[in-house]
Amino acid sequence: MSASETPRPRHVAIIMDGNGRWARQRGRPRASGHQAGFRTTRDIVEACARQRIEALTLFAFSSENWKRPPTEVGLLMDLFLRALKSEVGKLCDNNVRIRFIGERSAFQQKLQEEMDNAEQLTRDNTGLQLAIAVNYGGRWDIVNAARALARQARDGQLDPDAIDIDMFSGQVSLADIPEPDLFIRTGGEKRISNYLLWHLAYTELFFTDVLWPDFSETELATALEFYAGRQRRFGQTGEQVTGSNA
Ligand code: IPE
Ligand code: IPE
Ligand code: MG
Repeated sequence: MSASETPRPRHVAIIMDGNGRWARQRGRPRASGHQAGFRTTRDIVEACARQRIEALTLFAFSSENWKRPPTEVGLLMDLFLRALKSEVGKLCDNNVRIRFIGERSAFQQKLQEEMDNAEQLTRDNTGLQLAIAVNYGGRWDIVNAARALARQARDGQLDPDAIDIDMFSGQVSLADIPEPDLFIRTGGEKRISNYLLWHLAYTELFFTDVLWPDFSETELATALEFYAGRQRRFGQTGEQVTGSNA
């Protein structure tokens, strides 16, 4: 297979995990792990843009992360706000379109404004489609979609029997881009932690023990190689997929 034929993911979804452990290993506060994790995030966004990956979705804060100590939550919010302010201009110059998925009404006004600004500023960009999942939960996403369809049915605009998978897919977050082809979780845990539950139905899953602050373009290349080696069958037989009769 020539390099040009190597299967590449159009959409990569990442759970950026392991900041706290990275800091602990160094005897530093968790804050320094999040700070280091932010630098990795910046590098990986740039790397994906350079490598012409179409879409990148990053899990930055889950709907369950509110359960962390208030000081850590506050610190993450501060970091998030600072990161948005410092990065959006450059992302825009690099033709990145940024948007946020999740329930943003829970955030302080200032943060919500910055998120809206970033989305507005970059909305016409045609390069990397970057989605940041904040106060996001896969179950929330599914319930939200169900609620939207139920409202339409209640208002007489929709026959409940007409609801099918495609219609449902049209109501969850990121409905306008292909579902993730490749999922990456750093930090060693092999779980989904309420990430894109609907979207990951047929995504290839890559888990690495590398902690997020240590993740690099080299690790990304390893994940892309893993992806290139997978045969995606979507329920068919291998022979059907390769077109051989064996
Ligand atoms: C991921 O790193 C960042 C967020 C969840 C915000 P963690 O903070 O979960 O790091 P560990 O899992 O404790 O090492
Ligand atoms: C998942 O990591 C959420 C993010 C990376 C934002 P967690 O560290 O919150 O996941 P669990 O609690 O170990 O499952
Ligand atoms: Mg964690």
